[in-house]
Amino acid sequence: MTDKLIIFDTTLRDGEQSPGASMTRDEKLRIARQLERLKVDVIEAGFAASSNGDFEAVQLIANTIKDATICSLSRANDKDIARAAEALKGANRARIHTFIATSALHMEKKLRMTPDQVFEQAKQAVRFARNLVEDIEFSPEDGYRSDPDFLCRVIEAVIKEGATTINVPDTVGYAIPELYGNFIKDLRERVPNSDKAIWSVHCHNDLGMAVANSLAGVKIGGARQVECTINGLGERAGNCSLEEVVMAVKTRRDYFGLDMGIDTRHILAASRMVSQTTGFVVQPNKAVVGANAFAHASGIHQDGVLKARDTYEIMRAEDVGWSANKIVLGKLSGRNAFKQRLQELGVQMESEAEINAAFTRFKELADRKSEIFDEDILALVSEENVAQHKEQFVFVSLSQHSETGERPQASIVFTVDGKEVKGTSEGNGPVDASLKAIEAHVKSGAEMVLYSVNAISGSTESQGEVTVRLQNSGRVVNGVGADPDIVVASAKAYLSALNKLQSKADRVAAQG
Ligand code: KIV
Ligand code: ZN
Repeated sequence: MTDKLIIFDTTLRDGEQSPGASMTRDEKLRIARQLERLKVDVIEAGFAASSNGDFEAVQLIANTIKDATICSLSRANDKDIARAAEALKGANRARIHTFIATSALHMEKKLRMTPDQVFEQAKQAVRFARNLVEDIEFSPEDGYRSDPDFLCRVIEAVIKEGATTINVPDTVGYAIPELYGNFIKDLRERVPNSDKAIWSVHCHNDLGMAVANSLAGVKIGGARQVECTINGLGERAGNCSLEEVVMAVKTRRDYFGLDMGIDTRHILAASRMVSQTTGFVVQPNKAVVGANAFAHASGIHQDGVLKARDTYEIMRAEDVGWSANKIVLGKLSGRNAFKQRLQELGVQMESEAEINAAFTRFKELADRKSEIFDEDILALVSEENVAQHKEQFVFVSLSQHSETGERPQASIVFTVDGKEVKGTSEGNGPVDASLKAIEAHVKSGAEMVLYSVNAISGSTESQGEVTVRLQNSGRVVNGVGADPDIVVASAKAYLSALNKLQSKADRVAAQG
């Protein structure tokens, strides 16, 4: 056992499995770059066999990111594993993460397999994977609800076959910290070859205890890898949140006694990037990355912090990236300052022409808005991506009329495959009228399952950021649009969601 804690980020795999959080290949690469800046040890880039889009994303990340180990999830069968190995070929360090369910419930009802069949398949999968790459992680899915005797048998066998990491998922977020910690501890004590593998925790947040359970798995159970996601993104109530678990281990080093390689100063930028890409807004009182996490509203607290900061602050805001984001660009900022900010935000542009196009949009925005924040730049870059990739639907202009006592009307111009079209409609409000004007032309038949507006940087002068989640034929996608005019932002978000519904590159999250 080492005293280093390995941080395994699964934002791009388990996080992305959350309905509506699906990301394009380029969005995933941008987040992977930010995870590299954060210095996470392992990036689970996707589930290569689940779709061509996911295969390509894993491949692109494996070919590009060189500091972290790149991992692909894989079911416990040769075909999936071979596909994962293929996608990971370009990685400096590749890991295959193979899994099969071991709880009686999952084996009987989901897999319709006997425990002996699962045992054999787990062994065979690890043996096959070990011939392709050296670094193999095995997960008994629904491990926490599995029979410990059976689990010990499976884990001992897969370690013999060459598994180097054993991950014990609390797949449904059922665990309680003390019980989960002891569960891991007992397994490690009972499995004869347990010292030949690193033990890992993977907790879901259904009862709000994913971080607490993960920490108990580390402290009581002796696990030395934590699986987590930025902002706790993930299916249902999400996964263990990276920023919380990392800052707990760092802030309470006196208790945990563990080191990590994480450069925590990049946490906030990672959080914002994930929130902006997926449209999953971070609540203001969220630990570490919420807007209020370091705000002291009460007079007594403000007075205390001014006299001695540690009266009310246990972490330094700048240690998680807050101060770095105070540098605000404006219309006097030059191309170099803009380019440097893009680099700091982990945005890689492929050519000078692309930077120039983004810079022109930045100047246009700066004419309308005096302060340009990081969120504005990220929003602008994602719009630039939309334009660059010649999406099917591209916003051109919008006019709308609303007056008290009258039914609002909107008229919108957008391009469909480069050809300009115009739609008009009335609606309950200006946003409703604008989106109906788009639908009048597109007739997608998609159902809107979420509409949210967020002020990007806190004041009425700021850009409105709108997230629209659409559902059609079993696919759920998010579109995000930003503009100082929230009706325009809504139309952009709607068109962006429609583009994703059309795109083959956006995968349907595959389930194990
Ligand atoms: O929650 C889970 O069980 C998983 C496994 C595939 C590791 O995500
Ligand atoms: Zn999971």
